[in-house]
Amino acid sequence: MDSDLLLNIDDYARAARARTAKDTFDYFEGGALDEITLRENTDGWSRLKLYYRVLASVGTRDMRTTVLGQQVSMPIVVAPTAFHKLACEAGEIATAHAAKAAGTLFILSSLSNTAMESVFAQAGSPRWFQLYIYKDRGITLELVRRAEAAGAEAIVLTVDAPGLGTRERDSRNSFRLPDGLTVENLAPLGKGNMPDVEGSGLAAYVKANLKSDLGFDDLDWLCRSTRLPVVVKGVCRGDDARKAAEHGAKAVVVSNHGGRQLDTAPATSEVLAHVVDAAGDRCEIHVDGGIRRGSDVLKAIALGARAVLVGRPVLWGLCVDGEQGVMNVLEILRRELDEAMLLCGCTRLEDIGKWVLDPK
Ligand code: GLV
Repeated sequence: MDSDLLLNIDDYARAARARTAKDTFDYFEGGALDEITLRENTDGWSRLKLYYRVLASVGTRDMRTTVLGQQVSMPIVVAPTAFHKLACEAGEIATAHAAKAAGTLFILSSLSNTAMESVFAQAGSPRWFQLYIYKDRGITLELVRRAEAAGAEAIVLTVDAPGLGTRERDSRNSFRLPDGLTVENLAPLGKGNMPDVEGSGLAAYVKANLKSDLGFDDLDWLCRSTRLPVVVKGVCRGDDARKAAEHGAKAVVVSNHGGRQLDTAPATSEVLAHVVDAAGDRCEIHVDGGIRRGSDVLKAIALGARAVLVGRPVLWGLCVDGEQGVMNVLEILRRELDEAMLLCGCTRLEDIGKWVLDPK
């Protein structure tokens, strides 16, 4: 058998490592401190066991769904991740094309290397914009206005990064953007470059520019300031999720920022059901962190998620083969979810329930 065959997401991760500069790969792959949450995110899904149903008369499976009322071909969407031009020359445009081809949602990071106007012009629908709150509300508002004008259909507010979690790999590598790449959306606002300091340039950028005393008043302000639905990303507790919904969030993403912020925060698989119990009657609940197999997606749906966001798998695809690589990665996950549905006895996503994680 061809050992170079890229059959699954881990194959893509290995291939990406082999062809990507170390500091870039470390930035994409790394987590905070001891990387316990990073590992737990993936392990948590693996630990859950699937008590499949037999003789369920499953024919063709249907995994279409909606996110905030918008059609997607599957419950697997592209998470916001930074700096795609580190992975391939076409950067975020390649990712947006691949998401469009897959018929799924693309969420563009504020920290992209391509301006949102160029990316959204080439992206399909749905397309959402991820936002950090800058210390300067004028800058933040300008980003929101530009996202609205460029065709974004929701604003995804990241709330788990009042400061950047320490990623020791980035500190050791003195991670920064190479010459010629900028935080492109912010360049016209004078915030396109990372400070030239020892250690992680991104950590220094976040410290210098992002609001550290984030509060629910910031969420209120954002909801008042935009006509777009606001999604709150980075929640690990039921009470916070409920409060976010009460303050206007239309969806919550259960996320620990891919294990990149607070180390030893729980795996998202462990907290998802609590968040769904607390807030699932008020807003949509999405989840990310450690999804590497289609069966992980099925487990997330069983725990009450509407959709899962995938970040690193998309970056591995991008590193390996640009747009085509991202398309391949998304199709692998789609195929695996389809197989998991067949073998669990589920024709539609609505057939997937908590029962599949429970032997009784
Ligand atoms: C950016 O959001 C990062 O986690 O590096």
